[in-house]
Amino acid sequence: MPFPGETWLSPYLGTAVLCCLVVTIWLLRWKRRAALWKQVEEARRKREQRLERMQKVALTFREQNPGVEADRILSLPLVELSEELRNGSLPPEHVLYTYLDKAFQVNKDINCLTDYLQECESQLQEVKKQEKKGLLYGIPVSVKDSIECKGHDSTMGFLKNLNRPAAEDSVVVQVLKRQGAIPFVKSNVPQGLLSYDCSNVIFGPTANPLNHTRSPGGSSGGEGALIGSGGSILGIGTDIGGSLRIPAAFCGICAFKPTGSRLSQKGMVAILRGQKSAIPAIGPMARDVDSLALYMRALLCDDLFRLDSSVPPMPFKEEVYASSRPLRIGYHDTDSLTLATPSMRRAVLETKKLLEDAGHTLVPFKPHFSEDFFFNVCLTGLFADGSSTYVDNFKGELKEPYARQFLLMTKMPDWFKKLISWITGPIIPRLSKMLGNLVTRKAL
Ligand SMILES: *[C@@H]1O[C@H](CO)[C@@H](O)[C@H](O)[C@H]1NC(C)=O
Ligand SMILES: *[C@@H]1O[C@H](CO)[C@@H](O)[C@H](O)[C@H]1NC(C)=O
Repeated sequence: MPFPGETWLSPYLGTAVLCCLVVTIWLLRWKRRAALWKQVEEARRKREQRLERMQKVALTFREQNPGVEADRILSLPLVELSEELRNGSLPPEHVLYTYLDKAFQVNKDINCLTDYLQECESQLQEVKKQEKKGLLYGIPVSVKDSIECKGHDSTMGFLKNLNRPAAEDSVVVQVLKRQGAIPFVKSNVPQGLLSYDCSNVIFGPTANPLNHTRSPGGSSGGEGALIGSGGSILGIGTDIGGSLRIPAAFCGICAFKPTGSRLSQKGMVAILRGQKSAIPAIGPMARDVDSLALYMRALLCDDLFRLDSSVPPMPFKEEVYASSRPLRIGYHDTDSLTLATPSMRRAVLETKKLLEDAGHTLVPFKPHFSEDFFFNVCLTGLFADGSSTYVDNFKGELKEPYARQFLLMTKMPDWFKKLISWITGPIIPRLSKMLGNLVTRKAL
């Protein structure tokens, strides 16, 4: 009598079962990915519709108001534009609709927009009723994807964040609106934000306005590209490790990263919530430095301090900003962690010369701490949970190719990270330090 298992385990049957299993898993995976791509298509269609509306209202306005001096409006620096708006020589609708049209046009070339904030049309009417005109009266403002605007998604390039509109404006957006600014579009980011590129599966890559074959930098890359190409005059971005400064440098514009808690972070979505070792900051991006100062002046007001009690109630220090007292300024043209490119070093030295010519004293210093700080404070703090928060964001998502390598590293079990870190220690010390700092930290 044959043993019952014998028929079960007959080689033909075993192979057939295995094949079925593989095909089923493959089919399920294919089906899941097809469903995800459908979501992508849906999101892109929705964006197209919104941007078409944006173009339509701009065109309609232009047809009804053929006298609008679009070229002149687009060429005015922010400070002059705001003066003309405040003293009534330029009507705010001329400015808003001119920028809607320009943003739509540049987006066709560089793909920097993710959303049109349709509410700007009604907000324009609200702003016009302002009795005391705010410092940014009638100024159109663009907003990075990850900063919440009521009724709109903050995707960070993840499908799971689609169709989850913010319940409220972020505090910074609220204060800007009270100052008369009109947020009108949201701009593209790299998937998961922690990148110096600017592409995600949902909205695709953003191109650098100076050379379309290049990246605009990241993570505030959509803002950098939009402002660099003249489609916006003032933007809001965020920065932990260069996310305002890198796209500003790549796109030939200016940005300012304030001290972390100087401006409110309420309503800023982050991929690594709760970490305190590398404090993110919300900051402005614009064509010139005076614009950045105007933005800070407008935000550092009682409304901001009232809406977010975690912000120190320290107003803009006009007397410090306007002072011509000579200063002692420290500088370095490289650190011990990364080698500066010749162009960067030249930029620092040219700035040093200009500051010295203006009467300031420049003191060179060597930031000895940067390597230790980067590996043992930033990385350790950001990934103290063994990277699980970071990895969770990517679960069930279509992944952007550049995210894959780092994701692979963060996904390894702790013992494996430690092993590879130990093996690579003498050969690739940076990889070794990186992996060694991506492991789970026990609470004290
Ligand atoms: C408004 O401000 C602009 C820019 O400062 C100035 O050139 C213009 O003369 C002002 N117009 C009025 C009506 O005050
Ligand atoms: C743009 O960048 C490419 C390399 O990515 C370069 O070959 C090309 O010359 C650049 N174009 C311009 C106009 O600078």
